[in-house]
Amino acid sequence: MKKFAVLGILALLIFSCQQEPAAPKKKQGWTPELDQPSELALIMRDMNSEALNRKAKLENGELDPTLSETLFDMLTAHPTKPHMKGEGFEPYAKSFIGIYNQIQSAEDVSTQIKAHNNMVDACVACHTQFCDGPISRIEKLYIK
Ligand code: HEC
Repeated sequence: MKKFAVLGILALLIFSCQQEPAAPKKKQGWTPELDQPSELALIMRDMNSEALNRKAKLENGELDPTLSETLFDMLTAHPTKPHMKGEGFEPYAKSFIGIYNQIQSAEDVSTQIKAHNNMVDACVACHTQFCDGPISRIEKLYIK
């Protein structure tokens, strides 16, 4: 039993990059500090759900005009742990934003599907360096 408690605490400490986020807990009066997602984690969650919606639309043959309002703050947002935005984060983020802009400028569905899949490549590229926990989840965003 003790072993499991220790493992649980470790899992909490390393948080989002190592494990899939747990199912939402029941609301309690007190939320431990460690459960608060960072600014960067919130942007990531937004991008992930935006990408899921876009995928559904594109698979339905519709262009998706949605433009993220938070993604462009990725460069300044605070991460859960400083090392998550180590050296080299900025070039990945800038190249990601460039690719994201191609999604917005796509004028037909097949062009937007290509741009969307390029974006997923860019998500995975940065995650390989800085946060490999969510990669299998990110790969589900590809449109085949
Ligand atoms: C420039 C690097 C970079 C790019 C590009 C990037 N991520 Fe992330 N992502 C991170 C880092 C670093 C974290 C950890 C953030 C933290 O915990 O503060 C993260 C965290 C996440 C998380 C976990 C958030 C949570 O609940 O804690 C998800 C899901 C995620 N990213 C999805 C994506 C998706 C989808 C894309 C592409 C649309 C993407 N990321 C693009 C660096 C990146």
